[in-house]
Amino acid sequence: MSEFLNTPEAPHAPGASIRHTRDKGEPRFPNGPKADPAGSHFERRIRSFQPRRSRVTAGQADALQRLWADRGLDIDGQLTLDLAELFGNTNPVVLEIGFGMGEATARMAAADPDTNVLAVDVHTPGQGNLLNLADHMGLTNVRVGNGDAIILLREMLTPDSLGGLRVYFPDPWPKKRHHKRRLIQPEFLTLAATRLKPGALVHCATDWEPYAEQMLEVLGAHPGFENTVPDGGFAPRPAFRPLTRFEGQGLDKGHVVNDLLFRRVQHGQHGHHTEEHREHDQRDNDQSSTGA
Ligand SMILES: C[S@@+](CC[C@H](N)C(=O)[O-])C[C@H]1O[C@@H](n2cnc3c(N)ncnc32)[C@H](O)[C@@H]1O
Repeated sequence: MSEFLNTPEAPHAPGASIRHTRDKGEPRFPNGPKADPAGSHFERRIRSFQPRRSRVTAGQADALQRLWADRGLDIDGQLTLDLAELFGNTNPVVLEIGFGMGEATARMAAADPDTNVLAVDVHTPGQGNLLNLADHMGLTNVRVGNGDAIILLREMLTPDSLGGLRVYFPDPWPKKRHHKRRLIQPEFLTLAATRLKPGALVHCATDWEPYAEQMLEVLGAHPGFENTVPDGGFAPRPAFRPLTRFEGQGLDKGHVVNDLLFRRVQHGQHGHHTEEHREHDQRDNDQSSTGA
C-alpha cells in the first residue's frame, strides 16, 4: 500500500505535468470536477480557503478524468444528498474537510473499511491524488467532494446524517485581520452540530498553537459538543490518525501539534439542540450571511 502513497502517478511519468491548450471557456477537465461548482450565488461568503490555480500532474489529471464520474461530487449546493446512494451502502459517513493531498485520508479509509469517508477540498491536484490513491488501494469507501464544505453542510446534507467530522490542519490564517476566515468558529460548529448524529466524534488537529487554543475554547463552550478528554484539554494524537503532509511540514519547523476529540452530545442534552436547529434555519434564510 505504501508505495502508492508515495508515487500515485502511474501510468504517467512521475511528476509530469499536463499542458492545457484549451480554447477559451473550455472546461479544464471535461469529465472531472467543475471549476466553481456552486457558482457566483455563493460568492459573497467569507471563505476559509484561498482559491488557487495549481499545477495538476498527468497522473492526477488522468484520475480526475477517469474516476470523477464514479467517485467525485461537485458541491454545487443544488441537491440534497442521499449518502447511502452515494456510497452504495448504509455504513456511517465521516466528513473530512480539507484533505490536502489525501494521504492520511486514504490510510484511514483503508484501516476502517466499514466507515465511509466523504473527503472535501477545493484543491484540484489533491482531488486527483486522492482519487488515484483510492483507486490503487482498492478503496470503495471514499468519495471526493469538490467545493466549499460549508455549502455541502448547509445545502446538501440532512440533519443527523454524519457519523463524524475530521478537520486536520485547517489553514491557520495567522494574521489577525484574517482570523474571520478560520473554519473552526462558533457559527461553523452550530451548523456542523445539526448535521452530526448524537455521539459522533469531531476530531481536529493543528500545529498552530493560537488556533489550537481557539479550537479548544469554542468547542469547549459550544453546547452541542463535549470534550472526550476528562480534564477538558487537548487529546494525545490517537493511533488511528496518521501524520499528514502539513503536519510533517509543521513538525519540521518545530511546531507543537495538538489534537482535539469532541463528541456531539445527545439530542436534548443541555436543552440546546432545538435552539441550534432554529438558529441554523434562520441562517439559511439570510442570504447576506457571511457563513463560517
Ligand atoms: C493546510 S491544508 C491541510 C491539508 C491536510 N489536511 C494536511 O494536513 O495535509 C488545509 C486544506 O483545507 C482546504 N479547505 C479550507 N477550507 C475549506 C472549505 N471550506 N472547504 C473545503 N476545503 C477547504 C484547503 O483547500 C487546504 O487544502
